[in-house]
Amino acid sequence: MSEFRHVPVMLDEVIEGLNINPNGSYLDCTLGGGGHSECILGKLTSGKLYAVDKDKDAIAFAKKRLGDAPTYIHKDFKDAIAEWEEEKLDGILMDLGVSSYQLDTPERGFSYRFDAPLDMRMCSDEALTAEKVVNTYSQRELTDILYKYGEEPFAKKIAANIVKQRAVAPLKTTTELVEIIEKSIPPKVRYSGSHPAKRTFQAIRIEVNGELSGLYEAVLGAIKLLKPGGRMAVITFHSLEDRIVKQAFKYAELDCVCPPRNPICTCDKVSEVEILTKKPILPSETEINDNPRSKSAKLRIVEKKEYIKKERIQ
Ligand SMILES: C[S@@+](CC[C@H](N)C(=O)[O-])C[C@H]1O[C@@H](n2cnc3c(N)ncnc32)[C@H](O)[C@@H]1O
Repeated sequence: MSEFRHVPVMLDEVIEGLNINPNGSYLDCTLGGGGHSECILGKLTSGKLYAVDKDKDAIAFAKKRLGDAPTYIHKDFKDAIAEWEEEKLDGILMDLGVSSYQLDTPERGFSYRFDAPLDMRMCSDEALTAEKVVNTYSQRELTDILYKYGEEPFAKKIAANIVKQRAVAPLKTTTELVEIIEKSIPPKVRYSGSHPAKRTFQAIRIEVNGELSGLYEAVLGAIKLLKPGGRMAVITFHSLEDRIVKQAFKYAELDCVCPPRNPICTCDKVSEVEILTKKPILPSETEINDNPRSKSAKLRIVEKKEYIKKERIQ
């Protein structure tokens, strides 16, 4: 294992946004390098921190950095939230996506910059790898994934070329995949923006790790775990996950889901949160200069309301 490098994004904004109670209980759903967790721990006196990550390297490194101060949970946070049996929480953080350590460790296969096996798993116990995706998914499925999760305009061509190439020999490495992607994108646009393989690698990574499936439910589930006045902060790195978080927060804030034509409210929906960030908080220019990977980050925060039972009009 190489050294774990990851610069926590919008650290001050997250800590301020969580409004930490020194005696409170906190859940960091995405421990990573432990940067946010370390700062939360620094604010606690008798409080408690639960730290979740599905990558065992992250847990191992954080144990070295943070010792036994947090309670570590090696799981998908969606399962941790669904199965939660501990006390209600004063704050929850989700800092979604991959860590710099994962991206920069060649053998994890997340990056188009290194020649490595096609892996891309955050959790090495999972069966689905990038190699399985590119070698076993149908051309249609590959096209859909590249469109949906990568917003790749040349999805059709890339998927067709993957299928053509794997008929000769199964794809094994990131370099082989990069070569197919480069060949599939017209020379004029190939190097006009970011690296031509960026969108495809993002798409396959999202598929391998099921990053978007169940995220909406996990955000709503996490809100249920908050105490009144408790806060939840979520950092996203691309529009697809940001849209899901925004919609989940909006739904949690609604106090009625009756069809607009209903003359009176007959539903049981209550508003659970107040959205504190009508527009997402973005990293400052200084932060983007110091840490270019923070560039696409968006931070959204909600505060749990007192539960007010709705009087139904009969
Ligand atoms: C952006 S990094 C978090 C960095 C961390 N906030 C820090 O300060 O170092 C995201 C981490 O969350 C983990 N992760 C992403 N999705 C997860 C999920 N569904 N369940 C558990 N861990 C997840 C990844 O393995 C990665 O270590």
